[in-house]
Amino acid sequence: MPLIRISSAHLDTNDQPSTAIAAYVEATRAQSIALTGRDDFALSADRAVGTLRPNSQRRAELFALTERDGKLRAQDDDTDLGFRGFLAVIYPLDRRTDTVEADVYPVADGALGELISSFATLAEDRTTLSLWAKIPFGEPMDEHPHAQALRAEGYELALVEQAAELGIGTLGTPVIPAGLRAEFFTGIMPPTDLIDSFLEIMAVADTDVPSAEPAPAREWTRQMLEEAAAHHARRSATILNVVLADAAGVVAFTTANVDPERPAALEQGLTVTQRRARGQGLATLAKHVLAAEARARYPELERITTFNALDNAAMLAVNNKIGLVPKFYETNWIKKL
Ligand SMILES: CC(C)(COP(=O)(O)OP(=O)(O)OC[C@H]1O[C@@H](n2cnc3c(N)ncnc32)[C@H](O)[C@@H]1OP(=O)(O)O)[C@@H](O)C(=O)NCCC(=O)NCCS
Repeated sequence: MPLIRISSAHLDTNDQPSTAIAAYVEATRAQSIALTGRDDFALSADRAVGTLRPNSQRRAELFALTERDGKLRAQDDDTDLGFRGFLAVIYPLDRRTDTVEADVYPVADGALGELISSFATLAEDRTTLSLWAKIPFGEPMDEHPHAQALRAEGYELALVEQAAELGIGTLGTPVIPAGLRAEFFTGIMPPTDLIDSFLEIMAVADTDVPSAEPAPAREWTRQMLEEAAAHHARRSATILNVVLADAAGVVAFTTANVDPERPAALEQGLTVTQRRARGQGLATLAKHVLAAEARARYPELERITTFNALDNAAMLAVNNKIGLVPKFYETNWIKKL
């Protein structure tokens, strides 16, 4: 069966998603519903199109496994070639440049094996294949067809994340202790006086967040924030952030997405605490204050979703304290070529 690259967004904004993008979004929606009963973990069309725009840190490409050969675009294109599954592929450009990553979304019966084996054909000059697959919670992971298909192709399990969810109304009103201030901001740029210490905490996150293939440290610059801000400006989703700061600058940060296509779910992203301030409840506090602020700003929100590596004991402890309930595993499989 043909594996067809869906060409990148060509319009100024992320609207007019093509039939191929709609089928991809529907594949992520069906997968979220199968795993959790709801579509809170599905992608939006706006994000699917936006991700395909290039930036200096990675090249993102979307491939469709189809019944017929042909050409596909991300926008303004109603071509339907019979979509059997998708590979959402990332080629990192600034770190892990020996690796190619992908999320796999089978649609038709039998498509999973084909998607996994065709991923190797997309490696270009890269020597590490890194595939992400979602597996139901509570079942023996090794017996799941995804796990068996990946092992049969020579992949090894390298990292397990847990996707979890919580009713946002269950969180109480947080109190900010004396000596700390909470600064909320939307988008990418923190308040001007906190930019330097924000760049420092982002560099800490780069090295301290667990991953299957540890990456070298990189320097964070204002230019990187400016580029991310320009990239984000086309999106219809809002990024809502909070930094907790003391007299020396940012000590904790957490971020979340509010997507108008998924108005009931607050998608919690990265959380990080400066090394000097860990173990004082700041990550837990940051998540609480962000959820409370999000609820006040977006009354339609009903739930928070998040991901966290099972071997990140501190983050797991934070999420347990908050009361997040595990829903499925997001598994990362590695194959060296
Ligand atoms: C995860 C992280 C944000 C936690 O920040 P923090 O401000 O120290 O978190 P809190 O103080 O609110 O809570 C930490 C909890 O983890 C527990 N903990 C810390 N290390 C632990 C370990 N090795 N094993 C078990 N529990 C641990 C603490 O005891 C505390 O729980 P408690 O209050 O019940 O005692 C911080 O360690 C960090 O920045 N890590 C790097 C970034 C990262 O991995 N982020 C997660 C991915 S998004």
